[in-house]
Amino acid sequence: MRTPPELLTDLTLEEKASLCSGADFWRTTAVDRLGIPAIMVADGPNGLRKQPEKGDHMGLGGSNPATCFPPAAGLGSSWNVELAQRVGMALGAEAAAEKIAVVLGPGINIKRSPLCGRNFEYLSEDPRLSGELGAAYVTGVQSNGVGTSLKHFAVNNQETERLRVSAEVDERTLREIYLAGFERVIAQAAPWTVMCSYNRINGVYASQDPWLLTEILRDEWGFEGAVVSDWGAVNDRVAGLAAGLDLEMPASDGTSDAAIVAAVQTGVLEEIVLDRAVLRLLELIERAQPMLAQLHTVDHGAHHELARAVATECVVLLKNDKGLLPLAPDTSVAVIGEFARTPRYQGTGSAQVVPTQLDNALDAIQAIVANPVSFAAGYVIDAPTVTDASTTAGLLSDAVAVASAADTVLLFLGLPSSYESEGWDRDHMSLPPEQLDLLEEVVQANPQTIVVLSNGSAVTMSDWADKVPAIMEAWLLGQAGGAATADLIFGRANPSGRLAETIPLRLEDNPSFGNFPGDNLSVRYGEGLLVGYRHYDTRRMEVSYPFGHGLSYTTFEYAALTTKATDEGVAVSVEVTNTGSLAGQEVVQVYLSDPHAAVFRPLQELVGFTKVALDPGASTVVEFALNQRDLSIFHPTLGRWVVQQRAIYVEVGASSRDIRLRSTVQVAGESLTLPLGPDSTLEEWSADPAGSALLQEAFGGGGGALAGDAEIVKLLGNFPLVRLARFGNTPFTTADVDRWLAQLAN
Ligand code: BGC
Repeated sequence: MRTPPELLTDLTLEEKASLCSGADFWRTTAVDRLGIPAIMVADGPNGLRKQPEKGDHMGLGGSNPATCFPPAAGLGSSWNVELAQRVGMALGAEAAAEKIAVVLGPGINIKRSPLCGRNFEYLSEDPRLSGELGAAYVTGVQSNGVGTSLKHFAVNNQETERLRVSAEVDERTLREIYLAGFERVIAQAAPWTVMCSYNRINGVYASQDPWLLTEILRDEWGFEGAVVSDWGAVNDRVAGLAAGLDLEMPASDGTSDAAIVAAVQTGVLEEIVLDRAVLRLLELIERAQPMLAQLHTVDHGAHHELARAVATECVVLLKNDKGLLPLAPDTSVAVIGEFARTPRYQGTGSAQVVPTQLDNALDAIQAIVANPVSFAAGYVIDAPTVTDASTTAGLLSDAVAVASAADTVLLFLGLPSSYESEGWDRDHMSLPPEQLDLLEEVVQANPQTIVVLSNGSAVTMSDWADKVPAIMEAWLLGQAGGAATADLIFGRANPSGRLAETIPLRLEDNPSFGNFPGDNLSVRYGEGLLVGYRHYDTRRMEVSYPFGHGLSYTTFEYAALTTKATDEGVAVSVEVTNTGSLAGQEVVQVYLSDPHAAVFRPLQELVGFTKVALDPGASTVVEFALNQRDLSIFHPTLGRWVVQQRAIYVEVGASSRDIRLRSTVQVAGESLTLPLGPDSTLEEWSADPAGSALLQEAFGGGGGALAGDAEIVKLLGNFPLVRLARFGNTPFTTADVDRWLAQLAN
């Protein structure tokens, strides 16, 4: 292939336009005349969905078998950056073997509401965690010479009306919450492409938003790759091209090509804008050629083992009264719940993979325990459509019989795929009613019941969590999840997952409640910055399980927290010790609390984390370097990131509600006090040393009621000084105020 700039000069206008949309569902358009090949893309994110034949974007048609790694709901809970990178590497290797140039992932949208049907495909309610894991994944995939598509850019936090809804969000919230993860991935890992989302943001389609696709993405963040549309996200192709959308996917039946050609011919679109997009696409095609030129093979057995290792780290042990878990292999156990036999291991929609093999927990448990495991299905998956009353009664009585006869029950519950999927949102957070009935009966028959959950997004537990001694949140764990779950139950692995999203007591406690999923094609992000734990913690609300929470079979202690201001930011170090008797991993979390910020901030925000493995009795010193960005806020009035000079608290702990150590540090930065001006209030004048001196002078040095009396200042403090002057009963006039301002300006 000749170089992209050379090719560009030889392309006709029509050929250039044709390169800007797909040839079919998964391929770009080739220009045979010039030897420009097509490249093929495929979903992502938790496994490869290569459709060799007819394509579809909802996982309806078949695809080649590929390793199904834990979906993002699981991977997010691993809090393991290195593992996310290994998943990316393996996925990239599978893509290379299938000659796929770009993997359509990762999805890093924020879990704004637990109801979002696609939460299983997203990593966290926190942009730092999503960004770090997303960046590692991208680095991993791209290390194979295969590209990624960071999606869905941006503010695609629901499925309801996802092609038309406008997310109404203020700029600070956009910057600090909804764009921050994307910014991080782009800075750390340079994905080859970014996929724009379907929705509108503040009225403008993401696919044709110049602010989003050019000003922010390219001019501010320095993104140099290509922007691809989500499948069918294009509204006005010419406006999209002008805004920075390079490639429309899938094919556009020639309509878009014709529109682009006409727009250039009539002068509506400058050809240079088209050229820019074409150049980026030629660069993308060129980038994939070295990988495509070689043969790649995949060790699917090794990838299955990796999927198992990853799944082990995704499970969050929420509760473990009296150290019930891990179980000894000679325990008499009953396994109840169809999900133990028929696992729910991935989500529905475009991310749906055909796995190379599939473990189930029941077989894996039986392979570990000495005695025969008794099993009862307990429910039929998607019961309402297939179960009558007598079947339900039979399932329940079998389950009760099995539960009563065993020492311990492993009860597998969760959400069937009819409860959550791409394409639509849930309207409640409960487990299916027949499963809740089963839980009641089983617990009555045998209180020693351990619940294992399979679900892509949080479910409410406050009605039943107290009734059981142990709960494992196993999310969706991919094709090797069954074996991973059994390993954890019997202590062959030590749980190390931590919640990447808060589990609230009730849906109504979620901050988006009332503003989700919106109406009249508009959804108001009324909670602003208070998303997830930022809301629950700031409002000090009781939750079922907080962000960052997760138990281990061992214990960890934190000591010797130090913080030190440096030229770059703040250096943090803390010592962590495994004080239990088993090897384990701890996720050390660093939060910043900023009560002296010039603008409102959530009580605490995650600014760093790391996962450390420690043998019993071992200690390690963990270090974090908080940089300028970690210390900054997006100032809504100044319209830029600022580091304010102030004292902050650095908190280190095992969850957002389990802060073990805290330290104050003085941060160097700007003073955000605005200079005195015509609108400045009495309070601002009094707080300003030069201003208050002038006031004192006006009051004859004695201070007088206005200048000196704190109570009066409080009472009248929010009056601009000029307005007080106009009352006529103050010892200064509006002319004095003008004169003072002129004096201060010099
Ligand atoms: C999804 C994308 C996916 C694409 C192709 C769309 O419906 O939103 O995430 O990559 O289809 O399957």
